[in-house]
Amino acid sequence: MTAYEKLKSTLAAKPRTWLVTGVGGFIGSNLLEALLRLDQKVVGLDNFSTGKRRNLVQVKRLVTSQQWRRFKFIEGDLQNLGECQRACRGVEFILHQAALGSVPFSIEKPLNTNASNVSGFLNVLVTARDAGVRRFVYASSSAVYGDEPSLPKIEAKIGKPLSPYAVSKYVNELYAQVFAQQYGMEIVGLRYFNVFGPRQDPDGAYAAVIPKWIAAMIKGEPIRINGDGETSRDFCYIDNVVQANLLAAATPGAKSTARVFNVALHSRTTLNALFEMLRLRLAPDFPHLKKIKPVYQDFRPGDVRHSEADIRQVKRRLGYRPIFTVAQGLDAALEWYKKNVA
Ligand SMILES: NC(=O)c1ccc[n+]([C@@H]2O[C@H](COP(=O)([O-])OP(=O)(O)OC[C@H]3O[C@@H](n4cnc5c(N)ncnc54)[C@H](O)[C@@H]3O)[C@@H](O)[C@H]2O)c1
Repeated sequence: MTAYEKLKSTLAAKPRTWLVTGVGGFIGSNLLEALLRLDQKVVGLDNFSTGKRRNLVQVKRLVTSQQWRRFKFIEGDLQNLGECQRACRGVEFILHQAALGSVPFSIEKPLNTNASNVSGFLNVLVTARDAGVRRFVYASSSAVYGDEPSLPKIEAKIGKPLSPYAVSKYVNELYAQVFAQQYGMEIVGLRYFNVFGPRQDPDGAYAAVIPKWIAAMIKGEPIRINGDGETSRDFCYIDNVVQANLLAAATPGAKSTARVFNVALHSRTTLNALFEMLRLRLAPDFPHLKKIKPVYQDFRPGDVRHSEADIRQVKRRLGYRPIFTVAQGLDAALEWYKKNVA
């Protein structure tokens, strides 16, 4: 039995109360679904700045009515301390996901990014401290590695941030360290790499590459690759990220806290390979894809060439064992996109 399987049966036997911020978003709504399936009590906070009400409607359909009744939703903003306090009341574990997650958006609107990702983060952290929450888990990002060229990325070796978004996530990590030291809080940061899966938004100027390409392929729109397509990423299916969150929250012992862990697969997929994987999987249902080719355009300024995580720490300290490979994750995600992309 893996640490995750053990944890799930412990939680199911003795349900806990969780706060998921950003619950209307991609990762938050998947955490909500996983927790409700384990009969946990969940409070969710979101202001729907990038999240969607329909994500919550989907989760409602995927769980039993009894499980859904264990969910309390607060529509509110992280920047409002009173709303954070209301959300934290009686909560044991916080999975803090709410943030403005786009690098290009942060370059255009650094004030907005800072307000949600830094001031909002601090509000939740202070509230968690005052409410005596058992453990605070938060979403950091591989963006924190910035201009550090070495591969795979090791937690202790980061470079200079390349965007306001990266600064905001790095500031989160600094606050987390200080709050753990000064107030004895149990805090775990998770540096997600490129997460993908059901309910990740395919629309808009800031969509991530996998949902954007899937939607474009289904709709018969051109697929644009920034650069020569040999740029690579450590794409990670959402179920692996859910696993890391639950382990980070509920693995007992000091060795699992007061630090940050990479969450990914330790495998690299180039954009050219990703294009082919998607095309081959979708072509049987969408024959127009049999002969399509991507359109290559300029590299996007600020994009790092390669990204790959070292995941030895998260495996050793939290017992993380990613279950889904990229190919298995794409199979699962595509089922959802085929039904949900108009
Ligand atoms: N998806 C990825 O590949 C990835 C990679 C690295 C880090 N992350 C981090 O993971 C977290 C979740 O990302 P996601 O992909 O689910 O994005 P998402 O945009 O789908 O979800 C973020 C949610 O936070 C909410 N939110 C934003 N600002 C808020 C505020 N001020 N008050 C209340 N709610 C607010 C949004 O409405 C949205 O529902 C973010 O912190 C993001 O930075 C994601």
